[in-house]
Amino acid sequence: MTISKFQETVNQFVLSKDQVQKIVDGMTEELVENITQQPSFITRLPTGKETGLYLAIDMGGTNLRTAAVHLLGDGQVGVTMEKHEITQELKTGTGEAMFNWIADCLASLLKIVAVDMGNADLHMGVTFSFAIHQTAINHGNVLAMGKGFDLPDVMGKDLKDLLQDSFKRKNLPIVVSAIINDTVGTLVSHAYVSPSTKIGVILATGTNAAYIERVSEVSKYNGPDCDQMILNTEWDAMGKAEYLPQTKYDKEIDAVSLVPGFQEFEKMVSGLYMGELVRLALVDMIEQKAIFEFLEGKVPESLQARLAFKTLFMSTIESENSSEHIAVKRVFKTSFGIEGLTAEDRIRVYDLIHAIGLRSAAMVAAACSALLYKANGRSVSLDDTNEITTIGIDGSVFEKYPHFSLSMMEALANILGKDRATRIRLELARDGGCIGAALVAMVSHHGGAV
Ligand code: GLC
Repeated sequence: MTISKFQETVNQFVLSKDQVQKIVDGMTEELVENITQQPSFITRLPTGKETGLYLAIDMGGTNLRTAAVHLLGDGQVGVTMEKHEITQELKTGTGEAMFNWIADCLASLLKIVAVDMGNADLHMGVTFSFAIHQTAINHGNVLAMGKGFDLPDVMGKDLKDLLQDSFKRKNLPIVVSAIINDTVGTLVSHAYVSPSTKIGVILATGTNAAYIERVSEVSKYNGPDCDQMILNTEWDAMGKAEYLPQTKYDKEIDAVSLVPGFQEFEKMVSGLYMGELVRLALVDMIEQKAIFEFLEGKVPESLQARLAFKTLFMSTIESENSSEHIAVKRVFKTSFGIEGLTAEDRIRVYDLIHAIGLRSAAMVAAACSALLYKANGRSVSLDDTNEITTIGIDGSVFEKYPHFSLSMMEALANILGKDRATRIRLELARDGGCIGAALVAMVSHHGGAV
């Protein structure tokens, strides 16, 4: 039986058990090789009992959040938070303009919370959603930023110095006590409310994870003696051609990106790219008259722009409960001005989207399994313990993409076996950035084991 061009395209996104296992094995190997990982210098998780007032900032790819975090003990927090969009001008301007703006945002927060610390400094934790080469709990040099940022005069500089200099210019009595990656913030903050948390994952515009590792396994660490430490895996940048099941569409996304060959895993699974995969596959099929035949092989201009098909459209289409797939019709009419889809076209679009979403969930589940194996030691089977392991996950893809959590659970059961998978909890971890940064600032300020 010959299969249609459409089915052939969709099948490329459907992973076999063997392909998923290859990702688990490949990533486990890479975790051993320790190439992308960055030590966090954080050697213990919070107990949930910590108290005090700390400032925090969370600098992501889109927004800057500033917060005053009251740790109330018993896993409770009180947070006053402000959100500011990082403009394109700031993203590609000078370092001084960027850091002055951050100081101004903090000054605005201080007006609202009106803390009276007498002459004492306020301690602040910083969550940074970009890779840094960490040299101490509150020091780290900025590496290549990505996600649309281009601040050449910031590269290689110590983030603490950049912030402290701007606070001096603006007369703010703030001391940077901790600098962490967003995955580390997610892990730390979720452990505050759910002590069985062992892994923190971000599944948003980008993707990455942090977990707890024995220091003897962290070849890059050369700080004070300790047993274990949170490790930022930067799994976004992991993945070798031998085991990443890249389709020609994945290769195309990588080839036209700002940095080809970088963050290939992220480019296959995260929010910035999933919609683009749908668009590229659709364009290809339209040209081959395998879908939307009424277009006679001509791709409308609206579908030709890079990143025009948002991952949000996938969520909208997947959240519809009817087999009519009316949402497909609506998205193509309102966002692309394309009308005339047949019932079959609608089903095909849905099937394509569903396959790409499922692939992402399976690949992230494979990466989580690799972390679980690595954290437990390959030889120590996960069967040796009945403990629950919680994975705290933050980000729009995990939070908003329909059934993502369920699809990940199913993939975990296939990889680890049903019994083991029942001991894994996937939990939504919101606003981990600010709370995690405040918690680490607290531990660091009190000279805890960091
Ligand atoms: C990118 C960054 C990484 C961050 C992730 C999620 O992949 O390199 O540091 O954790 O995005 O925001």
